[in-house]
Amino acid sequence: MALLTGSKKIKTAVFISGTGTNLKSLIKFSKTNKSPITIDLIISNNLRAKGLKYGNIFKIRKKVFNFKNKNQTENKLLIILKKNNIDMICLAGFMKILSKNFINKFKKKIINIHPSLLPKYKGLNTHKRVLENKEKYSGCTVHLVNAKLDSGKVIMQKKVKISKKETEASLAKKVLAQEHKLYPKAIIKLFNL
Ligand code: GRF
Repeated sequence: MALLTGSKKIKTAVFISGTGTNLKSLIKFSKTNKSPITIDLIISNNLRAKGLKYGNIFKIRKKVFNFKNKNQTENKLLIILKKNNIDMICLAGFMKILSKNFINKFKKKIINIHPSLLPKYKGLNTHKRVLENKEKYSGCTVHLVNAKLDSGKVIMQKKVKISKKETEASLAKKVLAQEHKLYPKAIIKLFNL
């Protein structure tokens, strides 16, 4: 495996809305030799997102937008991404849907992690719906982002077995633990390392 030097790494922005545990795992991964990326910017639509603390802890620039005017916000975002030479966006628990216009204008890779085995259970409340349907397995998916929700090409998936006593909370915890491992692996795969 070829080691990438700091200057050649892919400058990445991570978009979050909540706790940011995937952001934390991506930051830790980015500091390893095998990582093709550096995390250079954190974007949030939510000023109270707990994950913003990782910007302080790891000294990564962060910006918050309320997305009230989506069009205007996305235009500002495009400028900031360009200014920071961002080459890839990782969505990690980001609760806003980026417009087709934004995706087309950014032109570079945007990837997302979703807590289900796509194409099953797109959208919200995945664990609840999985349990209601008495599925035997669930899991998580890292995929490329296109203009349709949770529908871009799958990069990697990880399956988890649902136990008899599974609850929404226990399934969320089980899947999230796998997400933290899957996101870095999918990035390595995406760049063919
Ligand atoms: C994860 O389950 C992710 O798949 C989903 O939202 C959750 C975010 O968790 N889109 P965190 O903010 O990374 O802790």
